[in-house]
Amino acid sequence: MPQYLQRGSFPPKRHTIHPNVPGYRQEGIYYEEVITTQGFSRAYSIVYHLRPPTRVLRIEAAGKTPIAKADESALRHVHLKTASIKPHGDPITGRVPLMFNSDVVLSRCRPETSQQELYRNTRADEVLFIQQASGRLITMFGILPFRAMDYIVIPKCTTYHLEFDSAEARPDMLVIEAIGDVGFPPRYLNPDGQFRLGAPFCERDLHGPIELGTQDVEGEFAVRIKDGENWTRYIMAHHPFDAIGWDGMVYPYTFNADDFEPITGTIHQPPPIHQTFQASGFVICTFAPRMLDTHPQAIKVPYAHSNVESDEVLFYVRGQFGSRRGVEIGSLTLHPHGIPHGPHPGTIVASRSVDFTDELAVMVDTFRPLQLATAAIPLDDPNYPFSWLD
Ligand SMILES: [Fe+2]
Repeated sequence: MPQYLQRGSFPPKRHTIHPNVPGYRQEGIYYEEVITTQGFSRAYSIVYHLRPPTRVLRIEAAGKTPIAKADESALRHVHLKTASIKPHGDPITGRVPLMFNSDVVLSRCRPETSQQELYRNTRADEVLFIQQASGRLITMFGILPFRAMDYIVIPKCTTYHLEFDSAEARPDMLVIEAIGDVGFPPRYLNPDGQFRLGAPFCERDLHGPIELGTQDVEGEFAVRIKDGENWTRYIMAHHPFDAIGWDGMVYPYTFNADDFEPITGTIHQPPPIHQTFQASGFVICTFAPRMLDTHPQAIKVPYAHSNVESDEVLFYVRGQFGSRRGVEIGSLTLHPHGIPHGPHPGTIVASRSVDFTDELAVMVDTFRPLQLATAAIPLDDPNYPFSWLD
C-alpha cells in the first residue's frame, strides 16, 4: 500500500463528530465512511462526506460480460499485435479482455469517447498502464493527474471518472484487473514500513490525489458497477464525489515507469529485479531503460529459460527490444509455463557492442496458467512460435 496520506478536513479523533452546521438534514455533521481491506485487518481510509454515501434512488441490472475463452488447446508462445485494435467505446466499455485466469484479467483499451458514466469495480483492484495520453482520475479522494507511462493503481470499490486531455494523442492503455490487493514487494520495505534505500523506487515516486474537487450537488447520478461478470447501475441521490476530507492508506495513486531505477550488474540480472507490484497470483515488472551488463564476456540479452511454474506476459511500450525480432510497440507476448523461450537468433551477437537499452516494457508474470480470450485470436501472429528458427 502507498504511504499514509491526508487531504481536506477531518476530526482529531476517529468516529467523533466532525461539525457541519447546518449540514444535511440539519444534523450538524459530516458523514464518515470507513474503507477497509482484508476485512478490518489491513490498510484503510476514513472519508468524510457532505451526505451519507448510502443514498440510493434506484438499482438496475445492467447486463453481463462473461469473457469468452478461445478454443485454443495447444501449449504455445503467443504474439498479439494489439496496436491494431480499433478504437471503440469509452475507458470502461472499450476494454478488450485478451488473457485471464482466476487471479487477473489483462485487457487492452483504446477508447474512442470520453467516459460516459461513473464506474466502480467491486471485485478487482485495477492497474491502468497509460501507454499514451494524459489527464485526471477523479474520485471521492480528489483529483489525481496522470501522464503517459504512469501506472494508475485504483483500489477496488473506488468510484471513478477518467478524464483525458483532449489535445493529447489518442488514449491507449493496458488494463490489469487484480482479484487480490495490489501492493509492493515486501522485500522493498524495511520493518518500519518504509521503502529500503536499495529499492528501485520510494515514497517520493508515488503520487496521490492533489486536491479534493468536492461536488455538492443533489440530483440523479448513475454509477456503473462491475461485480465480476455482472453489471449493476446504481442511481445515487447526490454526486458521490462529495468528500470534504479523508486520511489513510487506501486511495488511488500513480507511479511513472520512468521513475523506476533499474538495478544492473556485470552480468545479466534476473526478472525479479524489475518487479514493481505484487498481487495474489501474479507480479507486475517494469523493464526500464538501463545500462547493459559490463563484464567483458557478458551476454547482454537474457538466457533462454523455462520458467516452469509461471506464464510470462510482456507488453512492449516504447523503444527497441534487444532480445526480440518481429515485435512492435503495442505487441503483447505470452510465454507460457513448461516450454523454453529466449532471445531471438542474431540478438546475442547484435547486443555485444551495445551498452544501453532504451526499451520500456511491462511484464505480468502469473503463477496460474493464462487462458486466451476469443478477442485475442484475430490479433494472433501464428508464426511467432516458430520465430526462433534461423
Ligand atoms: Fe522470460
